[in-house]
Amino acid sequence: MNYTIKIGKKINIKDINEIHSLLNWGNYSSGQWPIVKKQSTFMVQVLCEKKTVGFARCVDDSEMCMIYDVVVHPDYQKKGIGTLLMKEVLKYIKSNNFATVSLFYDIKNKGLDNFYRKFGFETIPNAMRLKK
Ligand SMILES: CC(C)(COP(=O)(O)OP(=O)(O)OC[C@H]1O[C@@H](n2cnc3c(N)ncnc32)[C@H](O)[C@@H]1OP(=O)(O)O)[C@@H](O)C(=O)NCCC(=O)NCCS
Repeated sequence: MNYTIKIGKKINIKDINEIHSLLNWGNYSSGQWPIVKKQSTFMVQVLCEKKTVGFARCVDDSEMCMIYDVVVHPDYQKKGIGTLLMKEVLKYIKSNNFATVSLFYDIKNKGLDNFYRKFGFETIPNAMRLKK
């Protein structure tokens, strides 16, 4: 199958919302999307024909970079699309000089850490987050 990589903030919100729903991913409301778009510093989509089937984004302030929302449509997983997304994210990261680059992952999703290890990530013990 032919996939197209699209970088930038012209994203297909309908398609991405559909992926989020199918994955039970926390959906962004229509009011949140403009803020998410404005505050994100990098966005990449993978399209199959005209449909967005994968998405990832970064938020950074030139010192630190967080990677968020790495998602692939369930029907298109395990076809290399997550790898295409991460390669583009890493190109963006390497073109900057961030002191830290981090991401969260769901520890219950067995083996997901291995997906990120392929791209040079390691788990760290010294992180905390504010309780909800
Ligand atoms: C995680 C995710 C983005 C990977 O996308 P993908 O398109 O299926 O990944 P790829 O096909 O590029 O797979 C790359 C490699 O990682 C492995 N991999 C992918 N997802 C994996 C998982 N959940 N657990 C273990 N290994 C995984 C693949 O087996 C493959 O290994 P290989 O290179 O040895 O063949 C996708 O499964 C997804 O959207 N999951 C649900 C949302 C999610 O949890 N996102 C992560 C947010 S932190």
